[in-house]
Amino acid sequence: MTIEEKGLVEKLAELERLKELSRQGGGPERIAAQHGRGKLTARERLDLLLDPGSFEELDALVVHRSSEFGLDRQRYYGDAVVTGYGTIDGRLVYVFAQDFTVLGGSLSEAVGEKICKVMDLALKNGAPIIGINDSGGARIQEGVVSLKGYGDIFLRNTLASGLIPQISVIMGPCAGGAVYSPAITDFIFMTSSAYMYITGPEVVRAVTQQEVTHEGLGGAQTHATKSGVAHFILETEEECLREVRRLLSFLPSNNMDDPPVVEPTDDPWRRCDDLLEIVPEDPAKPYDMHEVIYHIVDHGDFMEVHSFWAQSVIVGFARMNGRPVGIVANNPAVLAGVLDINSSRKAARFVRFCDAFNIPIVTLVDIPGYLPGVEQEQGGIITHGAKLLYAYSEATVPKVTCILRKAYGGAYLVMGSKHLRADINYAWPTAEIAVMGPDGAVNIIFRRELEQAPDPEAQRRALVEEYRQRFANPYVAAARGFIDDVIDPRDTRAKIIKALEMLKNKTDTNPPKKHGNIPL
Ligand code: HXC
Repeated sequence: MTIEEKGLVEKLAELERLKELSRQGGGPERIAAQHGRGKLTARERLDLLLDPGSFEELDALVVHRSSEFGLDRQRYYGDAVVTGYGTIDGRLVYVFAQDFTVLGGSLSEAVGEKICKVMDLALKNGAPIIGINDSGGARIQEGVVSLKGYGDIFLRNTLASGLIPQISVIMGPCAGGAVYSPAITDFIFMTSSAYMYITGPEVVRAVTQQEVTHEGLGGAQTHATKSGVAHFILETEEECLREVRRLLSFLPSNNMDDPPVVEPTDDPWRRCDDLLEIVPEDPAKPYDMHEVIYHIVDHGDFMEVHSFWAQSVIVGFARMNGRPVGIVANNPAVLAGVLDINSSRKAARFVRFCDAFNIPIVTLVDIPGYLPGVEQEQGGIITHGAKLLYAYSEATVPKVTCILRKAYGGAYLVMGSKHLRADINYAWPTAEIAVMGPDGAVNIIFRRELEQAPDPEAQRRALVEEYRQRFANPYVAAARGFIDDVIDPRDTRAKIIKALEMLKNKTDTNPPKKHGNIPL
């Protein structure tokens, strides 16, 4: 039977007319205005994000139900969000993209329902959800039903946390309580012109009499460098969506899945001679730990998370012999690699993400300790520093640690030590593992001798050297098995890969409980 015989010609034409209306969003003028702001439309963004032709739209024909304040004259098919599913590198993902051309992308009751529908599907089917945010917030005309929409989304973000990867992309305004959905998700990408804040510049000016701009208050730069709200910042929308695709290449679809393995093309046993040059022998000399990471991971391909914030610790994803790993590394180039409030928070959240999603953790250690100071103590370094201890302790994924130079005191313990259930701990011969640095140690334990010495400086130097010889090396720890092996630095890549291969089928559990009480 043909469609003519079935009498479907007109009905199909009507369907196509409605779909076309939906595709037009707020109409050509508003699309032009969106482009005029240097932004793409919701659909153009999804086209860039997903594999070509893979997008299947849902709810293109949903319309809002409100008639308040003239809304009955502004009904758009699909309302202010485009939702559905598609693939990225052939793997299923669920998506929503707020459509700023329709009533400023504002969240109506119907928009909330559309977003919740794809979130529910993502959770039931164990696939990541990616939300593109570009919205004026709650649809003001709709009132509390719009707030309900946000509440429903926050609840789902929370229930999905740790089960499926949740990624937020901010490409325009994201203001008021609306910011809390992205905040609960695992990663936030921002384009350079996007902004996020709880209270806008007008309110801040009125309350604090301070002059502030959108950018200063909640621009992408601010969130990438100061608040740490944004994990990734990219100049253009194209770059940003490309990086979202790249991030997914390291992640499993859900917490029961393993991260995707690629065919390895970088020699796993490759010796890294350059490491001898990169890391200076003098423990007081800084170097950039990124260089070490680039040399040991496959093809130097490292996707850094939070690269502009709390830079004394480096976290990010890479592959070793084709398998994704999470790297956590102190960076002696920034504040000598100390842990402070923000770097502890940054590393703790990353470790917990890796643990939730079966991504082994490789830790590279070179750390003199926690950052001393009134600001840090009053800011709660005790609570925040404890987060990282907690995160490493509870993590049951394979954990491989290598100490390059310094590992002192509490910082030795926190950075993936054997005592927090790390599986394999290596150290270079240059490692110094002790309660504190030789200078501090000598000043405390030999205070009296130094006071009485005829030449205190010479005596101090001799005692520091003696302490270094006795304790500031990896062999005391290795003698007790806290360090499994002291390795040639050039073999770091090969040794870590061997350990990870050996740990491939690791299972470990935590005692059953409702949930722990991480020091938030
Ligand atoms: C309804 C909205 C809207 C909203 C924007 N529009 N935000 N409509 N509800 N929340 C409409 C505008 O009226 C306008 O329609 C169109 O979208 C485009 O907006 P413009 O203002 O022309 O765009 P622009 O100059 O780029 O400014 C964008 C903006 C501004 C900064 C986002 O629109 C704005 O300040 N909006 C209100 C933001 C806000 O206060 N939202 C509520 C926050 S409270 P026309 O037809 O004129 O073109 C909130 C609570 C959430 O969200 C709580 C969750 C728990």
